[in-house]
Amino acid sequence: MDAKIVLLPGDGIGPEVVAEAEKVLNAIASTFGHSFDMPRFPMGGNAIDSHGDPLPDETLEACLASNAVLLGAVGGPKWDDPNAKTRPEAGLLRIRKEMKLFANLRPIRTYSALLASSPLRPEIVEGVDILFFRELTGGIYFGPSGRREGENGEEAFSEMVYSTSEVERIVRLAAAAAQNRKGKLTSVDKANVLEVSRLWRQTATKVVNEEFSDLKFDHVLVDAMAMHLISRPGDFDVVVTGNLFGDILTDEGSMITGSMGMLPSASIGSDGPGLYEPIHGSAPDIAGQGIANPLATILASAMLLRHSLNLEEEASLIEKAVDDVLAAGHRTKDLARGGASLSTTEMGAQVLAALNQA
Ligand code: IPM
Ligand code: MG
Repeated sequence: MDAKIVLLPGDGIGPEVVAEAEKVLNAIASTFGHSFDMPRFPMGGNAIDSHGDPLPDETLEACLASNAVLLGAVGGPKWDDPNAKTRPEAGLLRIRKEMKLFANLRPIRTYSALLASSPLRPEIVEGVDILFFRELTGGIYFGPSGRREGENGEEAFSEMVYSTSEVERIVRLAAAAAQNRKGKLTSVDKANVLEVSRLWRQTATKVVNEEFSDLKFDHVLVDAMAMHLISRPGDFDVVVTGNLFGDILTDEGSMITGSMGMLPSASIGSDGPGLYEPIHGSAPDIAGQGIANPLATILASAMLLRHSLNLEEEASLIEKAVDDVLAAGHRTKDLARGGASLSTTEMGAQVLAALNQA
């Protein structure tokens, strides 16, 4: 297969972890006889510095013309001034919208080798395997917002808006995924308070009843979900929710596994290239030290092969290599709990070695 995979290393530890995933993709290409063209483009804070724009036109065009995009992370204190003209995060929101990536898949999967890294008791964490579908191009992130003069001075507002078609398409994707997993779908909303959530719930119910009646389906209020994720995370299979609730719950969920450094994510639309990235941010505090955990980005490259290039065998091989490396006791600093730890490139090299043995 010939594929064009655009690399957006971004800021902070982004370039360090993307470099390791690139090596893994090259290894897969040579083993399986694929040809991956992997050009790098600026995005985020570095693109603000070089182009005055966190998502330069040439970057967006290259992404739209690619088969898939692998992103490291964007942002950092250098670009945090609240009065700045633009911010790295604006580039992220824009690329999601321009590439029509309405579904953000965030798997929360525990590794038995890492059970001790979780802040939760091992018996709660063991076997947790949740797949979040976070709506990514609508809701309060993209609704009308602004400032105005109110009766008591200046006010600000950000509106949460969802149309039935936006809810339908994300619920369909999540429900289809649940059919291939444990057959359980949970929709999360705040229907006891918000009108937008009442439409969400009504629409989700209709889609599931009409098209996926074989699923076990329930609704959970977002505040209750925040509790259940900690008290009984093992009860969930596929969870579908809106943009803001999904942002918050997936950060909470990532802590179940003990390290954000392990979690990949995929952002996809109905067709066209998808965007793959680790869940963690640019971690400016450890950038440049060569100690970041590259596994989330390596696992994101596996999701990329699976979802955008349909290369299931190659994807599983990468995931198995990561399992093997962890089972063999290799750890980066975030996972080492004070014990011996590998650098970013050493961890990447271990994954390559495990791939070669598979
Ligand atoms: C995420 C991040 C982004 C979001 C920020 C950086 C804009 O938190 O991908 O979850 O809120 O969507
Ligand atoms: Mg977030």
